[in-house]
Amino acid sequence: MVKSWATFGVDLHVDVTGTGSGLRKGLTDALRAAVRGGRLAPGTRLPSSRSLAADLGIARNTVADAYADLVAEGWLTARQGSGTRVAERAVVAPASAPPRPRTPGGPAYDLVPGTPDLASFPRAEWLKASRRALAAAPYDALGYGDPRGRVELRTALAGYLARARGVRADPERILICSGFAHGLMLLGAVLRQRGAGALAMESYGLDVHWKLVERAGLRSVNLPFDELGTRTEELTGGGPGGSGDGSGSWDGNGGGPGSGRGSGGGLGSRGRAGSGGKGGAGGVAAVLLTPAHQFPMGVPLHPDRRAAVVDWARRTGGLILEDDYDGEFRYDRQPVGALQGLDPDHVVYMGTASKALAPGLRLGWLVLPPALAAEVTAAKGGADWSCGVLDQLTLAEFITSGAYDRHVRASRLRYRRRRDHLVSALAAHAPSVTATGIAAGFHAVLQLPPGTEQSVVRAAVWQGLAVHGLTRYRHPSATAPPLDALVVGYGTPTDSGWPGTLEALVRALP
Ligand SMILES: Cc1ncc(COP(=O)(O)O)c(C=O)c1O
Repeated sequence: MVKSWATFGVDLHVDVTGTGSGLRKGLTDALRAAVRGGRLAPGTRLPSSRSLAADLGIARNTVADAYADLVAEGWLTARQGSGTRVAERAVVAPASAPPRPRTPGGPAYDLVPGTPDLASFPRAEWLKASRRALAAAPYDALGYGDPRGRVELRTALAGYLARARGVRADPERILICSGFAHGLMLLGAVLRQRGAGALAMESYGLDVHWKLVERAGLRSVNLPFDELGTRTEELTGGGPGGSGDGSGSWDGNGGGPGSGRGSGGGLGSRGRAGSGGKGGAGGVAAVLLTPAHQFPMGVPLHPDRRAAVVDWARRTGGLILEDDYDGEFRYDRQPVGALQGLDPDHVVYMGTASKALAPGLRLGWLVLPPALAAEVTAAKGGADWSCGVLDQLTLAEFITSGAYDRHVRASRLRYRRRRDHLVSALAAHAPSVTATGIAAGFHAVLQLPPGTEQSVVRAAVWQGLAVHGLTRYRHPSATAPPLDALVVGYGTPTDSGWPGTLEALVRALP
């Protein structure tokens, strides 16, 4: 039996039985079976007889004879200049082949939030950056490398984030991960390892994030919300199970740097589990916030509450996870700067390429406090090798060449125009519906008359429109009365699909 990979034209694995004069038949049978079974698709170019013979360690004539037999039988075609290929009509689908899946009949219009307009992905610029990045990459860039990710990207991000988002970033403390979700998993694991028991989250958010936190072994507890945003003062003390005495400290030190045991206190040392109350924000070691643009409600965190959460973190040794998912997209004034700039020792800044570029890239970044950097890096390096280096190098080049800024500015214009269309369409056709959270990002919350959310979502389905009610974004233990609203991802449609999508939306509204 001879097995081989031949690599000219196509990688071809053939399992040939027979020896001596039986080899020709063995090879012919093996190739025929591969074509009949669909493993070799019509049009596939086979290796040259010389190349396959060399790989199989048999005479070239044996391969040439087998090819000739199969050409004569109609399984293969041989043409001067285009080599030997699988004949177009040779394949008989295997009897057991499953039926081709039917094209899914998805909704005609999509306003589910979370995805930017994927048709506007800057393909040409990305390709150029990719070409330049690959040409310039040293050969060792293609090795296993640093678990934090390529230094070119960490350096480019440090500069960009400092300039555009007010982040205090040092490439040494940046870690590249597969999107925000991966960063959250890593931080959840490290918090748990350190003995933390609970993580506070906003009343509204993404269920996938609550689940990731719980899968890491942490309780996700809920912080109340009002028109000024998340009530971070509930963390500071006085709230349900409040941790003002430091009992919820995620590192067990409670009193901030210098007050704990171990090396330097605060975030610097390992400690026992947070041990606060069972409900509310008690016992929390860390808090996850979307300060620039609360997801999905859309308000920025009030300055007093930004100060309050930083104060809580300093006083109790707590950790703030700042999800800056769409921080670059603000329309009425300068984007709100990152909270991390206020206290890089207590805030993990978490960014993603999912909004400004595309979620399919699976690229995100953490800017870590010095006391956490080594542990999070170890958690990533020990567990996975995600984040392909070519995309990292391309993104680095994309940022340093200015293409990222250009793309963000063009996207801002695109989404701002859509937001304005949305607001005027509502005023004209659905005056009972108010859009909120529209100063930033590319989704809006459409507040509906009380008791109508479910019926509006159903009406949208009738219009062929996928859209989510606010209820699915409400934390299971949120205490505030539920609001009837839609979360409308107006960034999701393509430019050409947008007008029809907007029409479908207003037809579904009361
Ligand atoms: C609130 C929020 N955070 C983060 C993200 C980005 O997640 P990821 O980087 O895992 O794609 C999203 C995407 O929809 C989001 O809505």
